[in-house]
Amino acid sequence: MNKLIFLGHATFEIVMEDGTRLVVDPFLTSNPQATVGPDHFHDRLDYMLLTHGHFDHVEDAWSLLEKTGATLISSVEICNYAGTVLGHEPTHGMSIGGSHDFPFGRVKMTVAPHGGRLDAEGGEGYTCTPGGFLLHLGETRLYIAGDTALTLDMQLLENQVDIAVLPIGDNFTMGPEDAARAAEMIKPRTVIPCHYNSWPVIEQDPEHFRGLVEPRSDVLVMAPGEAHEFQ
Ligand code: NI
Ligand code: MN
Repeated sequence: MNKLIFLGHATFEIVMEDGTRLVVDPFLTSNPQATVGPDHFHDRLDYMLLTHGHFDHVEDAWSLLEKTGATLISSVEICNYAGTVLGHEPTHGMSIGGSHDFPFGRVKMTVAPHGGRLDAEGGEGYTCTPGGFLLHLGETRLYIAGDTALTLDMQLLENQVDIAVLPIGDNFTMGPEDAARAAEMIKPRTVIPCHYNSWPVIEQDPEHFRGLVEPRSDVLVMAPGEAHEFQ
């Protein structure tokens, strides 16, 4: 079985059956929810996926790339930053709407209306288009929405997703009501809420969210450190 592990806020670890290890939006050092630090990945990290450049998604990205030599998969702009300013390789730049087959599975970048600043030293001029990821991993289609508003583009994902990871914190992203409407459009089997309760401004009750979504889709509320197995 493959594993999806929630590390708090919007950070996820994915471990494939063959041992391939990925991280999405590594924010651990200052993450009030995190139960592990960046050293969690020091023994092995194969791929890093970044949805966008905000601090609460990239805080540990640059040091982890250097430490682990992982392949960075993100927008062309963020990959250019990592290559040009940090001298990091390998990187694989993508743009919204594009897909690519990697050894671990297929990655498509999806639309995410949000802010494009890159929070990184020397990152000025690398303003990026924020995105999300639709991943085909094994038999499972996993949608990681990223920081996003509710958008009609999500209708294009109808019946394309098995597990949807949606932000519910409000203020910076969709709140519970909009995330529930997103789930209604996408019709995934399972919805995992994220990007809430890290700070007072994004406090939400995930059980309220569950009430808005179930029984159309199952809501899986993950505690930081918790793993969910998928095929
Ligand atoms: Ni953001
Ligand atoms: Mn964020």
